Amino acid sequence: MNVLRKDLERLAAEAEAARKPQDRWRPGFHLAPPVGWLNDPNGLCYFRGEYHVFYQYHPFDAACGLKFWGHYKSRDLLAWEQCPVMLCPDQTYDLHGVYSGSALCGEDGLYLYYTGNVKYEGEYDYISTGREANTVLACSPDGVHLSWKRLLMRNQDYPAGLTLHVRDPKVWAQDGKYYMVQGARTKEDAGVVLVFESPDRFQWRHINTIQTPESFGYMWECPDLFELDGQWFLLVCPQGLTEKGPGMENVYACGYFPLYGDFRGAYELGPFVPLDYGFDFYAPQSFTDGKRRLLFGWLGMPDAEYSNPTAAFGWQNCLTVPRELRCQDGRLVMVPARELEGLRETAREVRFSGRLTADVPETAEIGITCGDRLSLELSGLLLEASDGVLTLTVREGGYGREVRHAPVERLRSLRILADTSAAEIFVNGGETVLTTRWYPETAGRTLTLSGEGSAEIWTLRKMPVTIYE
Ligand code: FRU
Repeated sequence: MNVLRKDLERLAAEAEAARKPQDRWRPGFHLAPPVGWLNDPNGLCYFRGEYHVFYQYHPFDAACGLKFWGHYKSRDLLAWEQCPVMLCPDQTYDLHGVYSGSALCGEDGLYLYYTGNVKYEGEYDYISTGREANTVLACSPDGVHLSWKRLLMRNQDYPAGLTLHVRDPKVWAQDGKYYMVQGARTKEDAGVVLVFESPDRFQWRHINTIQTPESFGYMWECPDLFELDGQWFLLVCPQGLTEKGPGMENVYACGYFPLYGDFRGAYELGPFVPLDYGFDFYAPQSFTDGKRRLLFGWLGMPDAEYSNPTAAFGWQNCLTVPRELRCQDGRLVMVPARELEGLRETAREVRFSGRLTADVPETAEIGITCGDRLSLELSGLLLEASDGVLTLTVREGGYGREVRHAPVERLRSLRILADTSAAEIFVNGGETVLTTRWYPETAGRTLTLSGEGSAEIWTLRKMPVTIYE
């Protein structure tokens, strides 16, 4: 562990040196890996007064590779501490990656459920042969140091009819029991969600499988299931959809089904709703802090045809800001966690009627109230609302990102969190969201607005990140 820590410190120092002076794309208020590769948020929880954010982490280079669980924690979602790596692939049942999973807060510590990935060497299809997807439980008494790991289930313990693709346990407590959902791919190439129940967190029994009547993609990754304001929602990331159109323009989709009935027995799924319409949003995970349901997503997309130039500086990808979830008319609405208002520094208000140009800081929040015809450009990022569609075009610095569409019947407002190389665009109070990376060449940002309305522009200060001692 000490060796690993030393290696990580050396790599971090190298990356720090490599990014000076050119790496202007390091985010100011999004969590990014200190060095190396990041994907899904994992194990999100509020434990003993602190928010914990774990993430899929490949520390050794900026490309996707062997997965660990990296770790940040914070008291207020603004000042973060970079903690030691929590989970390493160091057992026979997880040696090719500590894959995604979730956390359960216990009296005696933090329980972390994840998928232990194992791949055999040889001529395999890696779908029905050549791999293992093990369900593993790890425990940390203090939320920072690991005390033990235990293998809970192997592929033969899952129900019949599945390929070897089963992963991403999301666990919660309810009605004096524990529940777990996992994503899976059936032998007929349909994505499904497996539901397990446990009396004690260790013994798990498969009690139900949630699926659509007609297959909807060949695999569902990263499921999440929760009730919000009396409505149940099943979040999934379906792979292999043949449907195209707004919200389905990326290589993989990410969205939710409203779930009616009981996830443990008879249920019905409503129509699939995309969660985000931008280029970079995947594998979101939600959790509660006792007051509200929050969500972080990976501000990235697996197997995308576009790229991220930060790989040259030794790191790649970041998470979204924490978002608060609400249910509005049976649909999910997402807005930035209210704590983020604490990043606001100077404010400026402008009215526009026709065309207006303004300088905007590199890390900024832009709030716009407008009519339903609007065109906005922020240093190469173009948003145009007309005829019920909001079009996002990346004109410059997209590295392969070109155009995406979102259905927006009547545009009323936009709230844009613009970081050095990422933008989260909340439309009409979070009814629709578009998230993207983009890489402007210069630090100075110019905002051009055409239409009618007013804009409030805040400078956002950068989030402090310190190293856990
Ligand atoms: C989603 C995913 C998960 C898996 C993890 C591996 O991005 O493919 O299904 O657990 O990434 O890093």
